Amino acid sequence: METRSVLQLDQAISGDSIADNDRFMDIMKTASLLDRAIAVLRLNDTGVFTKPGPHQYPHQWNWDSALIALGLSYFDLPRAQAEIRSLLSGQWRDGMLPSVVYHSIPSDYFPHPQFWQIENSPNAPAVQTTGITQPPLLATVVRLIHERLAIPEFVAEVYPALLHWHRWLHTDRDADGSGLACIIHPWESGTDDSPRWLHLFEAIHPEALPEFQRGDTRYVAATERPNRTEYERFIYLIDIFRQHNYVSSELLAHSPFLAQDILFNAILFRANEDLRALALNLGESTDEIDLWLRRVRSNFDARFWNENLGLYYDYDRRTGRSIPVNTASTFLPLFAGLPSQEQAQRLIEGHLLNPAEYAPGGEVRHWVTTTAQTEPTWEPRRYWRGPVWVIMNWLILEGLRRYGYNDLAALIREDTMGLIESAGFREYYDPRDASGCGSTDFSWSAALAIELLRHP
Ligand code: DGY
Repeated sequence: METRSVLQLDQAISGDSIADNDRFMDIMKTASLLDRAIAVLRLNDTGVFTKPGPHQYPHQWNWDSALIALGLSYFDLPRAQAEIRSLLSGQWRDGMLPSVVYHSIPSDYFPHPQFWQIENSPNAPAVQTTGITQPPLLATVVRLIHERLAIPEFVAEVYPALLHWHRWLHTDRDADGSGLACIIHPWESGTDDSPRWLHLFEAIHPEALPEFQRGDTRYVAATERPNRTEYERFIYLIDIFRQHNYVSSELLAHSPFLAQDILFNAILFRANEDLRALALNLGESTDEIDLWLRRVRSNFDARFWNENLGLYYDYDRRTGRSIPVNTASTFLPLFAGLPSQEQAQRLIEGHLLNPAEYAPGGEVRHWVTTTAQTEPTWEPRRYWRGPVWVIMNWLILEGLRRYGYNDLAALIREDTMGLIESAGFREYYDPRDASGCGSTDFSWSAALAIELLRHP
């Protein structure tokens, strides 16, 4: 059944364009959720990489691409492997895997490739990319695919690149020997305008801004995108990085934004566990990875855990202060298996299940708002200020399963599928009424719908 419908979709969508739009729309109206999810991934497939969204995000994004590969692996393993190879083609000589690989596709996206001026760095690759990274989900995805579909040759092929990236994160981005990676731009957190970064922004006063024109409000309402104040700081930071030619030591010394992000470090820890499993499969030494794991495990709580409140707070590495903002990134250590069972219980029972913060209740009817509703900066429709994101729900429910909270995981899964059923594969959702926000036909929402359908 599945093979036939995929074939039908393939006939309707040929190469990088929809050959027969009406037929595509017909299929979308009548197909099962699984087939519709596959159709979205096919729709956004350029042949070389998969766009996160058809208009808003026309290039290849790092952590989007990892999840897209996971989705693709269910119905087109060679295409999933090609997706990963494409992303790795943007790897910098020092190991950094950039947040975006442009692949020379003309687009109206800003910042355009030339804006980054990466050619001034001796580490830049031959292809056009950004000069910053994104949460390292890729090793986890490669392990998941390998465990399900056994791809030892592919693992052997990509393992050196993954190790190189993680090594770069544990050296070039370790500002204090703690093993915790620093991020230098909110875009590296993947949660651009999350309220957890606002404190850091208050200390940043852009003097002269380079000339630029935002492109992100062309296809999505400005009320669902970052505010101007934040956006100007995003651009100001890039300008500083260009002036330092992306030399890591200089960026650590001079970036006015320097943070240790719970989400990023939890994903990195989990990715190191997965990289270790891949290393064992390949008969490679795990000594270096073991060292990273030990170091982070012994410093994680001291840096992030707030014993009074029973949650994790991000850390401003520049000022040496904890960032007292309650966002859903506090649940990400569960995905990495970092909290003790008692800490997990405090996180879940004290916060995730609390309707004043995250659980449905009052005007909020859907899981999991990306910011606690108790935060004054919480906004239900604006990007990372509060809407529900499929990726966060997936990361959280994977964490809940790790700690035996299977019923709660099932509840969040069901609610997530309900949002997708009612509003389609949107970038994010308003937790009050389940309406869709941001990009339509969003690839990772489709990829994770496939994952949640196949691994309920
Ligand atoms: C965007 O364009 O909004 C991205 O999040 C930056 O990578």
